[in-house]
Amino acid sequence: MAQVKLRDIRKSYGSVEVIKGVDIDVDDGEFVVFVGPSGCGKSTLLRMIAGLEDITAGTLEIDGARVNDLEPSKRGIAMVFQSYAIFPHMTVRENVAFGLTINKASKAEKESKVAEAARVLQMEHLLDRRPSELSGGQRQRVAIGRAIVRDPKVFLFDEPLSNLDAALRMDMRMEIGKLHQDLGASMIFVTHDQVEAMTLADKIVVLKDGLVMQAGAPMELYHEPANLFVAGFLGAPSMNFLNVAIEAVNEKTVTVRNPSLAQIEVPHKGRSFTVGQTATLGIRPQYLRPVGTSAGKLHGKIVLTERLGSETVIDVELEDGTKIIAAIAEDTVLASGESVNFDFDPAQAHVFPETS
Ligand SMILES: Nc1ncnc2c1ncn2[C@@H]1O[C@H](COP(=O)(O)OP(=O)(O)OP(=O)(O)O)[C@@H](O)[C@H]1O
Ligand SMILES: [Mg+2]
Repeated sequence: MAQVKLRDIRKSYGSVEVIKGVDIDVDDGEFVVFVGPSGCGKSTLLRMIAGLEDITAGTLEIDGARVNDLEPSKRGIAMVFQSYAIFPHMTVRENVAFGLTINKASKAEKESKVAEAARVLQMEHLLDRRPSELSGGQRQRVAIGRAIVRDPKVFLFDEPLSNLDAALRMDMRMEIGKLHQDLGASMIFVTHDQVEAMTLADKIVVLKDGLVMQAGAPMELYHEPANLFVAGFLGAPSMNFLNVAIEAVNEKTVTVRNPSLAQIEVPHKGRSFTVGQTATLGIRPQYLRPVGTSAGKLHGKIVLTERLGSETVIDVELEDGTKIIAAIAEDTVLASGESVNFDFDPAQAHVFPETS
């Protein structure tokens, strides 16, 4: 177990700054997930923590000691990549033991560590096979086994499951969650997958353009997004955004309106607004409930109804042309072009000063 602390970490390639001053804390035994659009700097951050990439500025601490200039093998970190990078000519046993062989570990130590990793990953029966005789998920397990035998203080995973099919991904996701429970090690995990982020993380760090947009527990980010970017990034289908005019600023709320929306009061959560400005109202698709034609706070026209089995997704167009989505539990089909009214609890809506 270990604590990892990033303070004002920066990375430039030539004159281009790609990491622009990042503070992140990983507590002892914490599972931290990095998410963010392609190119936002997730892999670069992991590689700097691992020591595979120089840190241009800022401080990286592991267990209170500055390690910016410590060589990778001395940091107590193991990294697992999307491409498994296992050797085809070696057996699973030899692949898992590889790091130990390089470090000239004794035969007894190798045997006991490989046996323990194989037990944790449930691959005892695969130890004498070669990678060509394994499935994708089993190969990824070998790569994880190779990290485990090094007994690292911190595991770094860079999209380890993205080459696997959906069913295997789900199995491996659960295995990684269990591995974290069993080992109690600190882990940093990069993914594009919302479900992986929400289910595995103690803490999610949302990144954009080399900056942290918000860090916190998954449900905290989901229910209390700090800005428009985080609001739109987490949740599937994405939060709906409507342009609204601020009609009044009250003690705890702002009064907003738009041609398709009744006048409502939405909590402003301490964000500052001025009367007359345009702002963005956010409502999650799951919080919209279709109601009779005369009632409801939001009015639109049905574009399409998609029945997914577990829920029904209704695409709706508002008067100003904005497209929104409602996700409802009932299996209801509404005809395209029909008028529809939705109700929702304004306390579950968000209002942001930025416009999208
Ligand atoms: N060696 C390099 N030289 C110049 N620019 C680089 C180099 N490596 C990465 N970058 C740039 O740094 C930025 C961050 O890249 P990085 O690989 O960390 O993104 P990422 O968040 O991991 O993206 P993805 O989700 O696509 O894997 C990108 O704009 C990328 O083009
Ligand atoms: Mg990457």
